[in-house]
Amino acid sequence: MKGVAVTRGLGDVIPAPGEVRPDTAADFTIDSGTRISAAAGTEDVAEHLAAALRPATGYGLPIGGAGLDAGAVTSGVIALVVDAALGSEAYRMEISPGGILLTGGDPAGVFYGVQTLRQLLPAEIYAGVPQQVTWTVPGGTISDRPRFSYRSGMLDVARHFFTVAEAKSYLDTLVQFKINHLHLHLTDDQGWRIEIDSWPKLTAISGGEGTGVDGVGPGFYTKADYSELVAYAAARFVTIVPEIDMPGHVNAAQVAYPELTTDGIAPEPRTDVEVGYSSLVAAKKETYTFADDVLREIAALTPGPYIHIGGDEALVTTAEDYRTFIERLLPLVVKHGKRPLGWHEMASADLPPTTIVQYWRIEATDDGTARAAAAGHKVIMSPADRTYLDMKYAADTTPGLDWAGLVSIEQAYGWDPADRLPGVTEDSLLGVEAPLWSETLRTLADAQTMTFPRLPAIAEIGWSPRETHNWESFRTRLAACAPRWRAQGVAFHPAPEINWPH
Ligand code: ACM
Repeated sequence: MKGVAVTRGLGDVIPAPGEVRPDTAADFTIDSGTRISAAAGTEDVAEHLAAALRPATGYGLPIGGAGLDAGAVTSGVIALVVDAALGSEAYRMEISPGGILLTGGDPAGVFYGVQTLRQLLPAEIYAGVPQQVTWTVPGGTISDRPRFSYRSGMLDVARHFFTVAEAKSYLDTLVQFKINHLHLHLTDDQGWRIEIDSWPKLTAISGGEGTGVDGVGPGFYTKADYSELVAYAAARFVTIVPEIDMPGHVNAAQVAYPELTTDGIAPEPRTDVEVGYSSLVAAKKETYTFADDVLREIAALTPGPYIHIGGDEALVTTAEDYRTFIERLLPLVVKHGKRPLGWHEMASADLPPTTIVQYWRIEATDDGTARAAAAGHKVIMSPADRTYLDMKYAADTTPGLDWAGLVSIEQAYGWDPADRLPGVTEDSLLGVEAPLWSETLRTLADAQTMTFPRLPAIAEIGWSPRETHNWESFRTRLAACAPRWRAQGVAFHPAPEINWPH
């Protein structure tokens, strides 16, 4: 079957839509006369849609409001409207020969309908210059809504720094799969990547040349850079979730500020991939001055509701010190107006009620996550053997690590977050995240190669109704992504189990 052309049907979308009613007599073709009508609140999404369609079509696609609303689609119009009754992030798209009526429960829902529409067009729509193609959209109606409200990717900018432009580009490729959070792992042993005015040496010393794994991933975000990224994400309905990893993973901070160590002596900068050797000191007051200052500045920069405090792999912190530290740290996050989020090790401590636990373990062992869920805490599922995008696809693929096993596309797809951990059921789940750690990454293309095609698998698990999950269906729809990624210049791993079209 290799090389057979992919035919597009109304449901051939990732994530799989909830309800699809094709009408093969109702195709719509976008042409030079097509206009976009934007109801109040959808103007920015209309601009996004036009910007997505203009380069490849070469059409003007003018945007206007002009009295067009639900039920009043005139010929050749793509009408964007909001009907709150559909619910947050939901949309309905009715495609008929006269045009398209796209109704969102809110502007985010309209935005997700636009992402679906892009996938329903020929892959050339993702090209940057005009293509000689008939831009036909299959007819019928799609009704769609997310299973989980938290659908996330994570980029580790500490082990290897990715610039604002690279992070924006990465985000652009994620939102096509209806991802709505981007977790930035901003600090680790090998580098500190966010400017903090009250502790300026963090970036001056640990954000510059020679930092990162192998010393080749330098850089940091100024506050203006970070705010630019936050605004760019928000315009795409993505919430940035900043992570300051504590009490472990802090060597870069201790290099810059030796008062954060037990003996006050600066450790050597580290560019290797070891974990679990550094710790803040639970008994020192400087620890909490530092944490409070950093959290205050991060909270002030971050409009989203969450601050991630890490909490993972604190292997040289005693259990008692760990609890002491976490139980002093999390109230500081709350004091600064944010919900604490942390890796599941944190669940060994008493958590403020709004705290969210992110589960990353390979085995289905508890670590307190189920106890936290029973106490009412929400859980984000990121089991490393399913969701870690930095694991190798197969023994012979590069880059990547393999401590959590090899993560093939089928391995990333073939699980369900509500079954993963006894005691953590659908009701406790906030959603899913696919983390991309960067120890072995050196370029944006490396990041893309590890992300695609596995991120679409996690995105489908996060968005689509469980009853739609089907590997054979998924692998067919995934094959159709290849020409879209090629048209965008996005690198992907051409895994042999998928019948990629030429
Ligand atoms: C982790 O993988 N240390 C969260």
